[in-house]
Parts: sequence; structure tokens; C-alpha cells
Amino acid sequence: MNITLSVIKADIGGYVGHSESHPDVIAKGEECIAKAKKDGLLVDYHVTKCGDDLQLIMTHQQGENSEKIHKLAWDTFVDCTEVAKKLKLHGAGQDLLADAFSGNVKGMGPGVAEMEFEERVAETIIIFMADKTSSGAWNMPLYKIFADPFNTIGLVIADNMHQGFSFEVQDIKEHKQITFNAPDEIYDLLVFIGAPSRFMIKSVYHRGSGEIAAVSSTQRLALIAGRYVGKDDPVCIVRSQGQFPAVGEVLEPFALPLLVEGWMRGSHHGPLMPVSIKDSTPTRFDGPPRVVALGFQLSGGKLVGPRDMLADKSFDNARQQASDIADFMRAHGPFEPHRLPLEEMEYTTMPQVMKKVEGRFVDLD
Ligand code: 13P
Ligand code: 13P
Ligand code: MG
Ligand code: MG
Repeated sequence: MNITLSVIKADIGGYVGHSESHPDVIAKGEECIAKAKKDGLLVDYHVTKCGDDLQLIMTHQQGENSEKIHKLAWDTFVDCTEVAKKLKLHGAGQDLLADAFSGNVKGMGPGVAEMEFEERVAETIIIFMADKTSSGAWNMPLYKIFADPFNTIGLVIADNMHQGFSFEVQDIKEHKQITFNAPDEIYDLLVFIGAPSRFMIKSVYHRGSGEIAAVSSTQRLALIAGRYVGKDDPVCIVRSQGQFPAVGEVLEPFALPLLVEGWMRGSHHGPLMPVSIKDSTPTRFDGPPRVVALGFQLSGGKLVGPRDMLADKSFDNARQQASDIADFMRAHGPFEPHRLPLEEMEYTTMPQVMKKVEGRFVDLD
């Protein structure tokens, strides 16, 4: 049976500031999506949040980029925005950058990750969602999961993974895409994905079977809007077990609170702290950035779950380490590399300040 899993998300408004989602907004999202299931459009769904981002997890048989599914998500976000506006939440409708739906939510503000596949006998799925960071934050974790034998020893010792995985990488500035094979081309691959603000892993495939293994949202809000409107706060779907990395191998990269961009005003680097859904409440300096992971078993498209995978105690050290790194990075105040380099800054007063002091610059020779 072919099933499509769509994860579509948007920041509908923050409660309080950018730190959390209001329960009434989540309840409205739940109401809209439940109706679509009742009407037969969806097989199943789970509505949740990561920080101030509303997450719609949906299974259906409409395929990827379905106008019906995208319209359902868009209309849900619009209805939720009404609730957010009534409550005067912060930045109500923040990520809805278009006035009216036009066939596909891509390019309209929301983040999208979708994959269609034939459900296996046991179909294990992990859905990652992040707040206060940008698309591209999944590059290092996806590389570790699908190409690093020190993370995924299955690549070495499991026959059904030994051929490796291929990585589809997007250049979001030039609007181009290229595929690299791992392990053969990992040095070439890393040249690109080590620069995640421009090159992003869109999807990963199992080389033996050509099966989809992972897909991430690569929408960049600032490029869509042409100005700062909030951070991308991306999502990523990973298939697990069997010919894919085991659950423990999929989660292991998040034991390192890697440095990502997107903290405070989208303009700072900070550690990506792995947390439970409940603890996805980025409050300190509007952060530090968070990642959550929900695990499901699919059964005829039914989402059996979720299990809140990063709630586990074994991530306590990573959380502590993230707090320590947060202290260290914060101590740099307005200095790089805490502050993003000038060309990546979402906020800057540089043009105004430069204009003001322009006449005071004297030539060096
Ligand atoms: P499979 O059972 O999916 O082959 O994976 C083995 C495993 O889970 C070891 O951790
Ligand atoms: P969000 O993208 O999560 O809304 O965060 C915006 C921000 O600037 C926080 O400081
Ligand atoms: Mg926000
Ligand atoms: Mg957010």
C-alpha cells in the first residue's frame, strides 16, 4: 500500500513572545485536521508544536505536492491565525507570507517535508522538528545518520545498508540540485553540506533499492519574503530500521548539541538542544534552539504513536552540555561567532550606521 506522509508547519503566533504555542491555536489546528480525516481526505494525523511552530503531521493517499493536502494545511493555518489574532499572540500569522492559496504551500511561507512510499511490514518513522534555527540544521545529523560509520555502525556491519545512501543536495541560492553517493563521494559531499546556510540536504535514498530514506524542509523564509520574518524552524522525516539506520542510530547525532544559526532575532549561533515536546519552550535569549523527535509505527497509514523520543534521560548530558555552550556563546554578546557574520544577519543596523558616519571615514593612504 502506497502512503504519503506530509509534515507541514508554520509559525502562527507566539505565546509569550516567540517561546511557545497557545493551546487554543493547537486545538483549532486539531479541529480542522480532524474534520479532514472524517471527510476521508486523510488516513490519519497528529497535530503538535515545537516552540512557537504549529506542526501538522498527516498521512494520506494523495501523493506529494497534492493541492488538496496543501490547501488543507493553508486553510488550517489561516483559521489558526484568526485564533492567534483574537488572543493578540505575538506575530500572529507570522509565516503566512501570501494573501491567498495558489496550488502549493511551497514558496508561501510554511515549511514542508513529504515522502511517498510503500509501507513495509514494520514501518518505523521518526519526525524531527526544530525551533529557532534555519533549514540546513539537518545537514550534520543526516550526514551522521546515513554516511558516518562512527554514528551508524550498521553501515559497516549490516548487509542491507552496506551499499550506502545517496544525498540530494540543494543550492538554495542558485536554485540547483545535485546528488552525491556515500561513501564514495563523502569528501565532495562535505565540501557543500558543511556550508548549511546555502547547501541543504533535501533527501536521502537507500542506494540498494532506491527507496526514500529521509526528506527535510528546505524553505528559507528570508529568501521568500526578501526580509527577516522569523526563522525557518525546519522539519525532517526519517525512515528507520530494516534497510535504514536503527532508531538509536537515527537519534544519536542529537547527543551532540551542534551549533546552528537562528538564536535570538535569527541572528546568532547557538547549541541545538534536544528536548521533549513539553520542553520545546525556548525562553533563554529566545532559545537556545530546540529539536524534538516524534516516533511512530505506521499501520495501514495509521500513525501508531507518538513516542516522544528525545524526552529520554539519556539525552540529559546533551541538554546540560547545550546549557554550558549557551553560557559560553552568550558571553560573546554582539561579537562573532555568536553573532552571525554580516551577510547572514537577519537584522542589521549596518546600513544606517554606515550612512551616519560615512563622512568620517578617511582613506588609509
Ligand atoms: P532491525 O531489527 O531493523 O534489522 O535493526 C536492528 C536493530 O534495531 C539493532 O539496534
Ligand atoms: P521564530 O522564528 O521562532 O518566530 O523566532 C523569531 C525570533 O526572532 C526569536 O528571537
Ligand atoms: Mg515566532
Ligand atoms: Mg519558531
